[in-house]
Amino acid sequence: DGKIPHTFVIFGASGDLAKKKIYPTLWWLYRDDLLPKPTKFCGYARSKLSVASLKAACLQYMKVQPHEQAKYEEFWALNEYVDGSYDGRTGFELLNQQLELMENKNKANRIFYLALPPSVFEEVTVNIKQICMSVYGWNRVIVEKPFGRDDASSQALSDHLAGLFQEEQLYRIDHYLGKEMVQNLMTIRFGNKILSSTWNRENIASVLITFKEPFGTQGRGGYFDEFGIIRDVMQNHLLQILSLVAMEKPVSCHPDDIRDEKVKVLKSIEALTVDDMVLGQYVGNPEGTTEDARTGYLEDPTVDNSSTTPTYALGVLKINNERWQGVPFILRCGKALNERKAEVRIQYQDVPGDIFEGSTKRNELVIRVQPGEALYFKMMTKSPGITFDIEETELDLTYEHRYKDSYLPDAYERLILDVFCGSQMHFVRSDELREAWRIFTPILHKIERERVQPIPYQYGSRGPKQADRKCEENNFKYSGSYKWHGGKPT
Ligand code: BG6
Repeated sequence: DGKIPHTFVIFGASGDLAKKKIYPTLWWLYRDDLLPKPTKFCGYARSKLSVASLKAACLQYMKVQPHEQAKYEEFWALNEYVDGSYDGRTGFELLNQQLELMENKNKANRIFYLALPPSVFEEVTVNIKQICMSVYGWNRVIVEKPFGRDDASSQALSDHLAGLFQEEQLYRIDHYLGKEMVQNLMTIRFGNKILSSTWNRENIASVLITFKEPFGTQGRGGYFDEFGIIRDVMQNHLLQILSLVAMEKPVSCHPDDIRDEKVKVLKSIEALTVDDMVLGQYVGNPEGTTEDARTGYLEDPTVDNSSTTPTYALGVLKINNERWQGVPFILRCGKALNERKAEVRIQYQDVPGDIFEGSTKRNELVIRVQPGEALYFKMMTKSPGITFDIEETELDLTYEHRYKDSYLPDAYERLILDVFCGSQMHFVRSDELREAWRIFTPILHKIERERVQPIPYQYGSRGPKQADRKCEENNFKYSGSYKWHGGKPT
């Protein structure tokens, strides 16, 4: 597509996501000469803004180095902004005129990024389809969650979109699919004989997939309280990771072959029940050193003070297939915890026929998504020296040490670039989404109908104790004897 102009349209250009993620990402891609030339950008929102005020609002997120200043100005010179309503036609007609002007009536490809609240989603997509589509080039539409709030609302949204666009034109973002170590799962699993041979119920005891954040709702309480941690993180980010960990080997690396396998494994998962879950909600820590730490979830002014929305959830999924029957897949995620971390932990079974008097610990393969990408394998070794003791150690691939000079782009950079290239590999297909909602809808409805009370846990803690017990009950052994040193010498 080298010579064909591209136009990137950002709906919701005045919003949080646009200024914190989308504009910065576009700038970094532009800065690194990764975008096809020429590409121009046009924001659209209800607020009366100018490119200059947009530029000012984005600045603190753009990470501009002094030597990049000239290029940074060049980037903004390629931007336009149009304001208008989301429901009427007029604004979209003006937008389309602006786009044609920018494209000099050339044949152009258009990407529409919908950084919008769900309430205006339907009318905007209808208007795009009727008024703003490129006639000669291709059109691609990027959408962000929430993709509905349960199976029925999500299906309604999918049907609506399917009435307007082809599945090949739709790019549903789950930004975890843009992370280095999540993208690496395929290679780790299918490029290593030693792992592919042991990746099954004969060898693996349990799988634990964790997401932790050390801060609370931070002004997003309004959105969060309506959705909760299960919809915010577990049903999408953690389930996507699970499907890549658990799926069968795809026929090829073609995006649809991969997504076929993801759908297949999701279909083997039973819907969650209350017994499979632990729910929590954080309370303030009176001794906290920051205002945020002292503020409990219910004290957030944007949250209803009798809310039962969980900010922590652990769920145990069972995969009913030949490879995984009996192996618990534990997903856990929470806000306001003791650290920031996302990782996958594959715990192997105990060694049968023990000759070390119970002193061996289980092997674990840890895929650390963030912070500090790493892959390490916990194993037993003889303590070095004149002893026959044994100890836990690790084979360690810490990116910071092994790949010192490589640049790991942000998830959004990879994903937006994929859209330009037309690769849907790291995007969610509608049938994946449907399966994800099938697994989570019954439990979400039950929690909401019965106002299931979450267990309080303190801001900055490891979450409710009951969650640790649930892990134990599900064949995940935690001894606490091992501490990873982030690839540094101890
Ligand atoms: C988003 C959630 O999808 O992911 C947020 O809505 C969460 O609540 C965020 O904080 C985490 O993303 P990351 O890339 O910082 O791990």
